[in-house]
Amino acid sequence: MQQLTDKVAFITGGANGIGFGMARAFLSEGTKVVIADWSVEHLEKAKEILKGNNGAYFVRTNVAERDDLRSAVDEALEVFGKIHVLCNNAGVNGGGTADDPEFDGWDKAMAVNLGGVINGTKLIVPIIKRQGEGGHVVSTSSMAGVVPLPGLAAYSTAKYAVRGFSESLRMQLAPLGIGVSCLFPGATRTGMLFPPEDKPDQDFHEGEANDFQKALWDAARAAIDPLDTGRAVVEAIKENRFYIFTNREFLAEVMERNREMEAAFPIQDPPAGRVKFETMRADMTRNLLATGNRAAGAKEAGDFGLDLTSTGVD
Ligand SMILES: NC(=O)c1ccc[n+]([C@@H]2O[C@H](COP(=O)([O-])OP(=O)(O)OC[C@H]3O[C@@H](n4cnc5c(N)ncnc54)[C@H](O)[C@@H]3O)[C@@H](O)[C@H]2O)c1
Repeated sequence: MQQLTDKVAFITGGANGIGFGMARAFLSEGTKVVIADWSVEHLEKAKEILKGNNGAYFVRTNVAERDDLRSAVDEALEVFGKIHVLCNNAGVNGGGTADDPEFDGWDKAMAVNLGGVINGTKLIVPIIKRQGEGGHVVSTSSMAGVVPLPGLAAYSTAKYAVRGFSESLRMQLAPLGIGVSCLFPGATRTGMLFPPEDKPDQDFHEGEANDFQKALWDAARAAIDPLDTGRAVVEAIKENRFYIFTNREFLAEVMERNREMEAAFPIQDPPAGRVKFETMRADMTRNLLATGNRAAGAKEAGDFGLDLTSTGVD
């Protein structure tokens, strides 16, 4: 989508942090925004900041609850008539480690960080498709969806999955003129990552903090402004770019990880049958992505010859 003026963006977790940065970046493009968020406090604060701006509509919703989100989407359609851009951005910290025998926190974190992205996409993409005017879906993953930390298994699991979900969606929607991007923030100064001085009402004792915690606070002090992240999202939509990386400090580690993967492949040549199939599959996905800028109403992904919706195995 090169033109965002008078389009409508639905942003989950839109009342604070990165989501609110996106909302402000869209508004400055003349895009109408639906700010969908669970926190009443965040919604009130965002309303106050955007007071008098009739391009913004606020709705309280929980992305983890399908019916609740469906009502919010219906409400948005009643107000603005259409939705062209979906930003699946709502997210929460926590959820626990991979070896912790506790399920409640895990399930709750997955329900928001992954379930919310799936719910938003499955509810809104059919609307974007039906309108036939093109559109874009941006889902917020994290650098923890590329280079995880040991204590953040639930978070990383969801964020890796958001990336996989988005890559598949990208191929599915490219022939319809609907773009897909995945946002991978690193340290960004928000309600999720902040130094103690941002929350003076909370009881932080910097003197008692360990070196890791202190370094994290320093990273928060040097973190990206969420409005810059919002602007990066707008640029990526206009350029139809899939990967949105904002934090260059991760590059060397990502390259190192990619080299480790490359080095792990067997050295024997694979048999011709396997090579033929995987070449066809790779060509198919390449062709699908090459159609990305075609007008709306182009072929569906299934029309490209190979049906990969089933493995044929029960
Ligand atoms: N801040 C960072 O450094 C950072 C880094 C990597 C990824 N992210 C990701 O960015 C996204 C935005 O986070 P942020 O940093 O702006 O945090 P934030 O806490 O400032 O904003 C998140 C917003 O999501 C809302 N929200 C939470 N659960 C919700 C739910 N179930 N339904 C609807 N709204 C809900 C919150 O009320 C809040 O307004 C998240 O997906 C997060 O995982 C953030």
